[in-house]
Amino acid sequence: MTAIASTRDDLAKLLDPARRDGASVGFVPTMGALHDGHASLMRVARERVGDGPVVVSIFVNPLQFGAGEDLDRYPRTLEADLEVCEREGVDVVFAPSVDEVYPGGDPQVTVAPGPLADVLEGATRPGHFGGVLTVVAKLFGLVKPDVAVFGEKDYQQLALIRRMSADLCLGVDVVGAPTQREPDGLALSSRNRYLSPEQREVATTLSRALRAAQREAVHGVDAALAAAHAELNRVTGVELDYVEITDPALAPLPETPAPGSEARILVAAKLGTTRLIDNMSLRVGR
Ligand code: PAF
Repeated sequence: MTAIASTRDDLAKLLDPARRDGASVGFVPTMGALHDGHASLMRVARERVGDGPVVVSIFVNPLQFGAGEDLDRYPRTLEADLEVCEREGVDVVFAPSVDEVYPGGDPQVTVAPGPLADVLEGATRPGHFGGVLTVVAKLFGLVKPDVAVFGEKDYQQLALIRRMSADLCLGVDVVGAPTQREPDGLALSSRNRYLSPEQREVATTLSRALRAAQREAVHGVDAALAAAHAELNRVTGVELDYVEITDPALAPLPETPAPGSEARILVAAKLGTTRLIDNMSLRVGR
Protein backbone atom coordinates (compact mmCIF):
# COMPACT_ATOMS: atom_id res chain seq x y z
CA MET A 1 0.00 0.00 0.00
CA THR A 2 1.45 3.35 -1.06
CA ALA A 3 1.45 5.96 1.73
CA ILE A 4 0.89 9.60 0.82
CA ALA A 5 2.62 12.53 2.49
CA SER A 6 1.82 16.12 1.67
CA THR A 7 3.90 17.77 4.40
CA ARG A 8 7.56 17.58 5.35
CA ASP A 9 6.61 16.23 8.80
CA ASP A 10 4.49 13.43 7.37
CA LEU A 11 7.29 12.52 4.99
CA ALA A 12 9.81 12.38 7.83
CA LYS A 13 7.46 10.24 9.96
CA LEU A 14 7.05 7.78 7.10
CA LEU A 15 10.75 7.50 6.29
CA ASP A 16 12.45 7.76 9.69
CA PRO A 17 11.80 4.14 10.77
CA ALA A 18 13.32 2.74 7.54
CA ARG A 19 16.31 5.06 7.91
CA ARG A 20 16.79 3.95 11.53
CA ASP A 21 16.83 0.34 10.28
CA GLY A 22 19.64 1.30 7.91
CA ALA A 23 17.58 0.73 4.74
CA SER A 24 18.60 2.43 1.50
CA VAL A 25 16.08 4.96 0.23
CA GLY A 26 15.35 5.19 -3.51
CA PHE A 27 13.85 8.37 -4.95
CA VAL A 28 12.12 9.28 -8.22
CA PRO A 29 11.34 13.02 -8.43
CA THR A 30 8.53 13.80 -10.89
CA MET A 31 6.07 16.51 -11.81
CA GLY A 32 3.27 13.94 -12.08
CA ALA A 33 1.25 13.12 -15.21
CA LEU A 34 2.96 9.78 -14.82
CA HIS A 35 3.45 7.42 -17.77
CA ASP A 36 5.36 4.21 -18.49
CA GLY A 37 8.61 6.18 -18.61
CA HIS A 38 8.14 7.17 -14.96
CA ALA A 39 7.11 3.60 -14.09
CA SER A 40 10.42 2.38 -15.53
CA LEU A 41 12.28 4.83 -13.24
CA MET A 42 10.39 3.43 -10.25
CA ARG A 43 11.47 -0.09 -11.25
CA VAL A 44 15.10 0.99 -11.49
CA ALA A 45 14.83 2.57 -8.03
CA ARG A 46 13.35 -0.67 -6.68
CA GLU A 47 16.19 -2.73 -8.20
CA ARG A 48 18.68 -0.42 -6.52
CA VAL A 49 17.24 -0.42 -3.00
CA GLY A 50 15.69 -3.89 -2.75
CA ASP A 51 13.44 -3.89 0.31
CA GLY A 52 14.25 -0.27 1.17
CA PRO A 53 11.58 2.37 0.59
CA VAL A 54 11.00 3.82 -2.88
CA VAL A 55 9.73 7.41 -2.71
CA VAL A 56 8.13 9.28 -5.63
CA SER A 57 7.61 13.03 -5.40
CA ILE A 58 4.86 14.67 -7.42
CA PHE A 59 5.37 18.40 -7.56
CA VAL A 60 4.93 20.83 -10.45
CA ASN A 61 7.79 23.18 -9.64
CA PRO A 62 6.94 26.80 -10.53
CA LEU A 63 10.59 27.81 -10.25
CA GLN A 64 11.58 25.92 -13.41
CA PHE A 65 8.91 27.45 -15.70
CA GLY A 66 9.67 30.68 -17.52
CA ALA A 67 7.16 33.40 -18.38
CA GLY A 68 4.88 32.18 -21.17
CA GLU A 69 5.72 28.51 -20.52
CA ASP A 70 3.13 25.85 -19.66
CA LEU A 71 3.04 26.06 -15.82
CA ASP A 72 -0.71 26.69 -15.67
CA ARG A 73 -1.68 24.08 -18.21
CA TYR A 74 0.85 21.45 -17.06
CA PRO A 75 -1.25 18.29 -16.56
CA ARG A 76 -2.17 17.56 -12.93
CA THR A 77 -3.52 14.02 -12.61
CA LEU A 78 -2.92 13.01 -8.99
CA GLU A 79 -5.53 10.22 -8.80
CA ALA A 80 -4.18 8.44 -11.87
CA ASP A 81 -0.60 9.06 -10.70
CA LEU A 82 -1.29 7.39 -7.37
CA GLU A 83 -2.59 4.32 -9.22
CA VAL A 84 0.67 4.10 -11.19
CA CYS A 85 2.67 4.36 -7.95
CA GLU A 86 0.51 1.73 -6.27
CA ARG A 87 0.93 -0.63 -9.23
CA GLU A 88 4.71 -0.20 -9.16
CA GLY A 89 4.95 -0.94 -5.44
CA VAL A 90 6.08 2.57 -4.48
CA ASP A 91 6.19 2.93 -0.70
CA VAL A 92 5.72 6.68 -0.30
CA VAL A 93 4.35 9.42 -2.56
CA PHE A 94 5.36 12.91 -1.50
CA ALA A 95 2.88 15.37 -3.04
CA PRO A 96 3.46 18.73 -1.35
CA SER A 97 1.85 22.10 -2.06
CA VAL A 98 3.88 25.00 -3.42
CA ASP A 99 3.81 26.61 0.08
CA GLU A 100 5.15 23.44 1.65
CA VAL A 101 8.16 23.41 -0.69
CA TYR A 102 8.64 27.19 -0.78
CA PRO A 103 7.34 28.56 2.52
CA GLY A 104 7.65 32.33 2.35
CA GLY A 105 7.67 32.39 -1.45
CA ASP A 106 10.58 32.07 -3.83
CA PRO A 107 13.77 31.05 -2.03
CA GLN A 108 16.50 33.66 -1.56
CA VAL A 109 19.23 31.08 -1.94
CA THR A 110 19.15 28.99 -5.11
CA VAL A 111 21.48 26.63 -6.92
CA ALA A 112 23.56 28.21 -9.70
CA PRO A 113 23.84 25.51 -12.34
CA GLY A 114 27.01 26.77 -14.05
CA PRO A 115 27.91 26.92 -17.74
CA LEU A 116 26.32 23.60 -18.72
CA ALA A 117 22.95 25.28 -18.15
CA ASP A 118 23.59 27.96 -20.79
CA VAL A 119 23.54 25.66 -23.82
CA LEU A 120 20.86 23.57 -25.56
CA GLU A 121 17.71 23.70 -23.39
CA GLY A 122 19.23 26.40 -21.20
CA ALA A 123 19.82 28.71 -24.17
CA THR A 124 16.09 28.69 -24.98
CA ARG A 125 14.84 28.42 -21.40
CA PRO A 126 16.95 30.81 -19.30
CA GLY A 127 16.58 30.11 -15.58
CA HIS A 128 15.06 26.68 -16.19
CA PHE A 129 17.92 24.59 -14.85
CA GLY A 130 18.47 26.87 -11.85
CA GLY A 131 14.84 26.12 -10.96
CA VAL A 132 15.28 22.39 -11.55
CA LEU A 133 18.45 22.10 -9.47
CA THR A 134 17.03 24.20 -6.65
CA VAL A 135 13.95 22.01 -6.27
CA VAL A 136 15.93 18.79 -6.66
CA ALA A 137 18.39 19.95 -3.98
CA LYS A 138 15.45 20.74 -1.68
CA LEU A 139 13.79 17.40 -2.40
CA PHE A 140 17.09 15.61 -1.76
CA GLY A 141 17.24 17.46 1.57
CA LEU A 142 13.73 16.36 2.49
CA VAL A 143 13.81 12.76 1.25
CA LYS A 144 17.52 12.15 1.97
CA PRO A 145 17.75 9.41 -0.64
CA ASP A 146 20.70 7.12 -1.21
CA VAL A 147 19.80 6.71 -4.88
CA ALA A 148 17.78 9.00 -7.17
CA VAL A 149 16.66 7.96 -10.65
CA PHE A 150 16.12 10.33 -13.60
CA GLY A 151 15.25 9.63 -17.23
CA GLU A 152 17.84 9.98 -20.00
CA LYS A 153 15.09 11.65 -22.04
CA ASP A 154 15.96 14.86 -20.14
CA TYR A 155 19.63 14.27 -20.81
CA GLN A 156 20.91 17.74 -19.93
CA GLN A 157 18.89 17.73 -16.71
CA LEU A 158 20.38 14.35 -15.77
CA ALA A 159 23.92 15.62 -16.49
CA LEU A 160 23.36 18.73 -14.36
CA ILE A 161 21.85 16.83 -11.44
CA ARG A 162 24.77 14.38 -11.49
CA ARG A 163 27.12 17.32 -11.49
CA MET A 164 25.26 19.04 -8.63
CA SER A 165 25.32 15.91 -6.48
CA ALA A 166 29.07 15.52 -7.07
CA ASP A 167 30.09 19.19 -6.87
CA LEU A 168 28.00 19.93 -3.77
CA CYS A 169 28.85 16.57 -2.12
CA LEU A 170 25.17 15.71 -1.67
CA GLY A 171 26.00 12.03 -1.34
CA VAL A 172 23.16 10.92 -3.64
CA ASP A 173 23.91 8.30 -6.28
CA VAL A 174 22.25 9.80 -9.39
CA VAL A 175 21.22 7.06 -11.80
CA GLY A 176 20.09 7.57 -15.41
CA ALA A 177 17.47 5.26 -16.91
CA PRO A 178 16.92 4.70 -20.65
CA THR A 179 14.23 6.65 -22.52
CA GLN A 180 11.00 4.71 -23.00
CA ARG A 181 9.38 4.99 -26.43
CA GLU A 182 6.07 4.38 -28.14
CA PRO A 183 6.21 1.57 -30.74
CA ASP A 184 6.63 4.24 -33.47
CA GLY A 185 9.67 5.71 -31.70
CA LEU A 186 8.17 8.78 -30.00
CA ALA A 187 9.83 9.30 -26.62
CA LEU A 188 7.32 9.09 -23.77
CA SER A 189 6.69 12.52 -22.24
CA SER A 190 3.99 14.08 -20.11
CA ARG A 191 3.76 16.80 -22.77
CA ASN A 192 2.77 14.32 -25.53
CA ARG A 193 -0.80 14.62 -24.30
CA TYR A 194 -0.92 18.21 -25.58
CA LEU A 195 -0.45 17.01 -29.19
CA SER A 196 -3.35 16.95 -31.64
CA PRO A 197 -3.68 13.68 -33.61
CA GLU A 198 -1.94 15.33 -36.58
CA GLN A 199 0.88 16.68 -34.41
CA ARG A 200 1.21 13.29 -32.72
CA GLU A 201 1.89 11.75 -36.14
CA VAL A 202 4.44 14.41 -37.08
CA ALA A 203 6.13 14.11 -33.66
CA THR A 204 7.75 10.80 -34.68
CA THR A 205 9.98 12.88 -36.97
CA LEU A 206 12.17 13.72 -33.98
CA SER A 207 13.17 10.15 -33.22
CA ARG A 208 13.39 9.35 -36.96
CA ALA A 209 15.84 12.24 -37.37
CA LEU A 210 17.98 10.96 -34.49
CA ARG A 211 18.00 7.42 -35.92
CA ALA A 212 18.94 8.74 -39.37
CA ALA A 213 21.84 10.60 -37.74
CA GLN A 214 22.92 7.44 -35.93
CA ARG A 215 23.07 5.58 -39.25
CA GLU A 216 25.05 8.31 -41.02
CA ALA A 217 27.40 9.02 -38.11
CA VAL A 218 29.98 6.57 -39.51
CA HIS A 219 30.58 9.24 -42.17
CA GLY A 220 31.18 11.94 -39.56
CA VAL A 221 29.34 14.68 -37.65
CA ASP A 222 28.38 16.75 -40.70
CA ALA A 223 26.85 13.75 -42.44
CA ALA A 224 24.94 12.80 -39.30
CA LEU A 225 23.55 16.32 -38.86
CA ALA A 226 22.64 16.53 -42.56
CA ALA A 227 20.69 13.27 -42.25
CA ALA A 228 18.84 14.60 -39.20
CA HIS A 229 17.97 17.88 -40.96
CA ALA A 230 16.81 16.02 -44.09
CA GLU A 231 14.38 14.00 -41.97
CA LEU A 232 13.16 17.11 -40.08
CA ASN A 233 12.66 19.03 -43.36
CA ARG A 234 10.52 16.25 -44.79
CA VAL A 235 7.50 17.38 -42.73
CA THR A 236 5.72 20.64 -42.02
CA GLY A 237 4.65 21.72 -38.54
CA VAL A 238 7.98 21.05 -36.79
CA GLU A 239 9.62 24.29 -35.71
CA LEU A 240 13.19 23.22 -35.00
CA ASP A 241 14.96 24.83 -32.03
CA TYR A 242 18.22 22.87 -32.23
CA VAL A 243 19.75 19.62 -33.33
CA GLU A 244 23.29 19.25 -32.03
CA ILE A 245 25.93 16.61 -31.56
CA THR A 246 28.10 16.83 -28.45
CA ASP A 247 30.32 14.51 -26.48
CA PRO A 248 28.52 12.30 -23.91
CA ALA A 249 29.08 14.94 -21.20
CA LEU A 250 27.51 17.62 -23.47
CA ALA A 251 30.85 19.34 -24.17
CA PRO A 252 31.62 20.27 -27.80
CA LEU A 253 33.19 17.45 -29.81
CA PRO A 254 36.79 18.00 -30.94
CA GLU A 255 37.15 19.23 -34.55
CA THR A 256 38.22 15.76 -35.66
CA PRO A 257 36.90 13.24 -33.15
CA ALA A 258 38.74 9.93 -32.91
CA PRO A 259 37.05 7.33 -35.13
CA GLY A 260 34.27 5.55 -33.28
CA SER A 261 34.06 8.21 -30.54
CA GLU A 262 30.95 8.11 -28.45
CA ALA A 263 28.71 11.17 -28.82
CA ARG A 264 25.19 12.37 -28.13
CA ILE A 265 22.71 13.90 -30.54
CA LEU A 266 20.03 16.12 -29.02
CA VAL A 267 17.00 17.71 -30.63
CA ALA A 268 14.32 20.17 -29.53
CA ALA A 269 11.39 21.40 -31.58
CA LYS A 270 8.00 22.99 -31.19
CA LEU A 271 4.89 21.41 -32.63
CA GLY A 272 2.32 24.17 -32.34
CA THR A 273 2.71 25.36 -28.76
CA THR A 274 4.20 22.09 -27.50
CA ARG A 275 7.95 21.84 -27.07
CA LEU A 276 9.40 18.33 -27.37
CA ILE A 277 12.95 17.13 -26.77
CA ASP A 278 14.72 13.87 -27.51
CA ASN A 279 18.26 12.50 -27.68
CA MET A 280 20.23 9.36 -28.52
CA SER A 281 23.79 8.11 -28.30
CA LEU A 282 25.83 7.60 -31.44
CA ARG A 283 29.36 6.79 -32.59
CA VAL A 284 31.09 9.22 -34.88
CA GLY A 285 33.33 7.87 -37.68
CA ARG A 286 34.36 4.30 -38.11
O1 PAF B 1 11.99 15.98 -14.86
C1 PAF B 1 11.12 16.48 -14.12
O2 PAF B 1 10.00 16.00 -14.05
C2 PAF B 1 11.46 17.70 -13.29
O3 PAF B 1 12.33 18.55 -13.95
C3 PAF B 1 12.02 17.34 -11.89
C4 PAF B 1 13.36 16.64 -11.98
C5 PAF B 1 11.02 16.48 -11.14
C6 PAF B 1 12.23 18.63 -11.08
O4 PAF B 1 11.06 19.34 -10.93
